[in-house]
Amino acid sequence: MKKKSNNNRRDFLKLAALGTAALGLGSIGNVFASQTENDQNSGLLSPGQLFPTGNKSVMGLACKPLETVRIAIIGLGMRGSEAVRRLLQLEGAKINALCDLVPEFVADANARLREAGQKEASAYTGIDDWMKVCEREDIDLVYNCTPWDLHTPIAVYAMKHGKHIALEVPAAVSIDECWQLVNTAEETQRHCMMLENCCYDFFELATLNMARQGLFGEILHAEGAYIHDLRELKFLEQKDGGYYNHWRLEFSKKHNGNLYPTHGLGPVAQIMGINRGDRFDYLTSMSTKQAGLSLYAAEKFGPGSPEAQQPYMLGDMNTTLIRTVNGHTLMIQHNTTSPRPYDRLHLISGTKGMARKWPKPAIALEPAAHQFQKPEEFDALMAKYEHPLARQIGEKAKKVGGHGGMDFIMDYRLIHCLRNGLPLDQDVYDAAAWSSIVHLSEMSVLNKSQSIEVPDFTRGAWKDAEPWPVVTIG
Ligand SMILES: NC(=O)c1ccc[n+]([C@@H]2O[C@H](COP(=O)([O-])OP(=O)(O)OC[C@H]3O[C@@H](n4cnc5c(N)ncnc54)[C@H](O)[C@@H]3O)[C@@H](O)[C@H]2O)c1
Repeated sequence: MKKKSNNNRRDFLKLAALGTAALGLGSIGNVFASQTENDQNSGLLSPGQLFPTGNKSVMGLACKPLETVRIAIIGLGMRGSEAVRRLLQLEGAKINALCDLVPEFVADANARLREAGQKEASAYTGIDDWMKVCEREDIDLVYNCTPWDLHTPIAVYAMKHGKHIALEVPAAVSIDECWQLVNTAEETQRHCMMLENCCYDFFELATLNMARQGLFGEILHAEGAYIHDLRELKFLEQKDGGYYNHWRLEFSKKHNGNLYPTHGLGPVAQIMGINRGDRFDYLTSMSTKQAGLSLYAAEKFGPGSPEAQQPYMLGDMNTTLIRTVNGHTLMIQHNTTSPRPYDRLHLISGTKGMARKWPKPAIALEPAAHQFQKPEEFDALMAKYEHPLARQIGEKAKKVGGHGGMDFIMDYRLIHCLRNGLPLDQDVYDAAAWSSIVHLSEMSVLNKSQSIEVPDFTRGAWKDAEPWPVVTIG
């Protein structure tokens, strides 16, 4: 029996590696080879429909309610260790397994469980132990906070072993991986939720509520971004508080485009009803040259250092424009290497007004939209349109923390939906569409910003699906 399960694990790893080699980010040429003649004639590059259709859709999937959600957390670095802290605050959530390559991270997490009066979770520290974790019988939800290249392999394996999966952003780093997630969720009828926490930030939730109540009219255009100076963090060693094996720096060496699109994109895509009444049609993407990492490395390690001499592919600022089939546009930016304050933009522009979050939240509405609202008008609007989730658990969320509380609201909703057998707020189609920008933006950048078609991961289900409503937890 043990031998059989070892063989299964080996086969899975071989297949995962083959998938990446055939269609992953390292081999964009193969994706171009899958264009139809028609696509070539239209001048539109198309990553194509890479997998057969025919599975049962998971749009609106509701599963059997779980009285207690039994959780395994894989990856206990900066993000996963915080997830332990938050999940321990939630009624009906129980952590049964903890997995990381660093034994101290697992021990620290278990210490937190003990402090919270809970039994220690089973500990795993081997390189492929995440497979054993996914195979356990006493787990309902695998919560994946590993580096990007492990997101999809773990998610697919977990779903194939009957588990729901919540995974960090981006859910996938290639179109092939996006389809793997969709196909596996459909085959197994399991939930696959990307943990896009920014959808639960207070201003984002309020603007969603305003949008649903028609305050901005028809939303024609939105902007989002991930502008976060990570130069220092990218070069730090894990033991000094940096990333495992410099995984983020490694991506900066090998890839260009928008490597991390979903923080800015997720909230505006939900507001615009992407995959529910509308969908991404095509995009074009452009990057500046790379400068920030080399300059930083030369200053920190010396101009002749390997870090300064190393070529980095990632252009400092990437700007991606997406057009939807309903004729709306989105502008999404990525910049982790320029000296700038943190910014996710979050700008929404409609036929009756607009809102933007950075540098300071502001709203302008007809008939006085030439100017932003005065502070007292703005405060009154915010009070009137506060999202019910923020009203219901906002105070507790701010106390628990996690990016000001949004992380806790996200976890609260996830566990609430699983316990009540409700569809999740973000499904596998969102995970795929939002994450697909990683690969598609790179395809465009490497081809002089040519237009690229965005696959319809819903296989047509977007036409009849309703936009995400203003949900509550009552
Ligand atoms: N949503 C957010 O706001 C947010 C914020 C930060 C990071 N993230 C995402 O969270 C993920 C993790 O980021 P991080 O900052 O915590 O990075 P990190 O490097 O601190 O943590 C990753 C952890 O995964 C572990 N790991 C690596 N390979 C493993 C394996 N085979 N088995 C088990 N564990 C393994 C590492 O030891 C490390 O502790 C990334 O995908 C990142 O994009 C999201």
